Amino acid sequence: MPGAPRSADDVAALGFGADYNPEQWPREVWDEDVALMREAGVTVVSLAIFSWARLQPAPGEWDFGWLDEAMDLLHANGIGVDLATATASPPPWLTRLHPEVLPVTRTGETLWPGARQQWRPTSPVFRRYALELVEAMAGRYADHPALVAWHVNNELGCHNVWDYSDDAAAAFRTWLSERYGSLDALNAAWGTAFWSQRYGDWEEILPPRLAAAHPNPTQQLDFKRFSSDALRDHLRAERAVLRRHAPTVPVTTNFMVMAHTTGMDYAAWAGDVDFVSNDHYVHPGPQGPDELSFSANLTSGIAGGEPWFLMEHSTSAVNWQPVNRPKRAGELARDSLTHVAHGADAVCYFQWRQSAAGAEKYHSAMVPHAGADSDVFRAVVDLGRTLGRLAPVVGARREHARAAILFDWDSWWASELDSHPSDRLRYHREALDWYSAFLALGVRVDVVPAASDLAGYDVVVAPVLHVVPADLAARLAAWVADGGHLVTTYFSGIVDEHDHAWLGGYPGAFRDLLGVRVQEMAPLLDDEAPRLDDGRTVGLWADPVDVVAGGVEVLSAYADGEQAGRPAVTRHAVGHGSATYVGTRLGAAGPDGVAATLRTVLDGAGVRSELPDRARGAVELTVRTRGAATFWFLVNRTDAPVDVDLAGEGVRAEALVGEVADGVVALSARGVAVLRVAH
Ligand code: GAL
Repeated sequence: MPGAPRSADDVAALGFGADYNPEQWPREVWDEDVALMREAGVTVVSLAIFSWARLQPAPGEWDFGWLDEAMDLLHANGIGVDLATATASPPPWLTRLHPEVLPVTRTGETLWPGARQQWRPTSPVFRRYALELVEAMAGRYADHPALVAWHVNNELGCHNVWDYSDDAAAAFRTWLSERYGSLDALNAAWGTAFWSQRYGDWEEILPPRLAAAHPNPTQQLDFKRFSSDALRDHLRAERAVLRRHAPTVPVTTNFMVMAHTTGMDYAAWAGDVDFVSNDHYVHPGPQGPDELSFSANLTSGIAGGEPWFLMEHSTSAVNWQPVNRPKRAGELARDSLTHVAHGADAVCYFQWRQSAAGAEKYHSAMVPHAGADSDVFRAVVDLGRTLGRLAPVVGARREHARAAILFDWDSWWASELDSHPSDRLRYHREALDWYSAFLALGVRVDVVPAASDLAGYDVVVAPVLHVVPADLAARLAAWVADGGHLVTTYFSGIVDEHDHAWLGGYPGAFRDLLGVRVQEMAPLLDDEAPRLDDGRTVGLWADPVDVVAGGVEVLSAYADGEQAGRPAVTRHAVGHGSATYVGTRLGAAGPDGVAATLRTVLDGAGVRSELPDRARGAVELTVRTRGAATFWFLVNRTDAPVDVDLAGEGVRAEALVGEVADGVVALSARGVAVLRVAH
């Protein structure tokens, strides 16, 4: 990864930079740009992301002169280039010549040019033109000294993941025939005996377009899997060209691990890039900072704990939320450093200089409309200095926590399909509520894809783990039998990989492990908020739970409502481990509702906070290690100063960022300290 050290003694700098779009500015501005980049300590920029129309003004016509000049200028100023393949947004001539590359929505509408990313992931015509451009870019710049990485396309699937066109239909059939091998197998998997849906010919199969009633759920789930794979296929096709020209230059593409981006199964994509990159924008609402930390944590999980690259976030406001508030003092640095705390070895923004025209002219940048004489640019320069002090951290892995939250794209997709017990369920929100509870208790947790190795974890929380193939159920049961403490919730263990219900009572795949049985799922109406016997109010779901095994303890019961007196939270002791079932949404009255149950589970497993009492909840602790060196990141999540007394915890540390005085770290409001900790 660019910036990463090649050996233990070779210490590189953290990457710092932005998307750079010089083609939007007159040439004289470029000189000011690089002067300001040097002032800020910028080390890397992403170039040519939306430059196709400029690079290829017409079929067969190329204009690389301006890009040559920009590459040379950056190199002369010591700035590396993460060079985009420029295929993200096809030029108007291409879509005029080939309107058949335009995506089509579920309801049959064409997504016309005029914005960006107007291409079908499965269009052979688009693929041909895109690879021609990649070929030209790779051929020209493979040996350029500024080149540090290739950036395939941009945010693959941001606007075009769901394409229901005829190209998509054809590619979907091919994907299905590879998956199932025969129509009989497909008919069985899709349960087509229902509603007279039996297929007799592959050509009869379509994407789940607007239909008279709920489309077949397995067809919908497979279409989501296929759509993610179709974009992955595009990534691989571009990568193959890049590798041929520049076998040693690392290839990446910017993922969007964020609450509102559901379409791409990044856990599956991770193996297709040489290093993981992510884009993240703070989610509006009270759990925004938690969501930032959650996404950064999950990105680390996707990267297998290895360092990753924060390719985009914002210095201040974005332009695409209903109301776009600027960041408050301190948030620029705190947000960026939270990503570093979770393993980012680069901090990059969209974009370097705020555009004067176009749809993103109100989106913040490193150099805002106000220019360099601005609080934003001063904060950028300050952050550049801070990152300079963090060079020893480059290349450090995240230290394995004792607890994990499992995140699973199949379950995200399947649990939110239509024709379900409740359309109010939000997979990501449930996972985030558990994460918020860990933050509130000050206990470190790793967010990891469901397929991850669980060895080394004492506690695993699997919220709404809805799609559970037999092997996953067996793996979790074996891990519990070995002493693991599992927590799972309502609507978990319900279906297999084909979205077929596990029979015999819910939560089918986990019934024996949990020692409970639910005959009928019972979602709640919006105005139903039963109380538990400890006073917490819950919502969304209230499974009528029967205890069906010995060794099951009721941790909480309903105090009122239809289920009054019945268990809401149970724990089944299994060997040295346990399996806890939460049959309701504990976070319905706010994420704190989860913490009481989580504390009980953590206590049972002997997992404790490493922070002093007074800092818990206010401060997030993350740990990265590199060789014998251990680094603690302390992020003050509050708007008030917090003292963290490490001496009281027996921890000796020296500060890379912030200060330690008499064993106490004084964090300013929204402040961050980074410490090298002695064992
Ligand atoms: C990303 C995109 C950037 C810019 C940014 C604005 O989705 O990659 O080009 O649009 O959002 O927040």
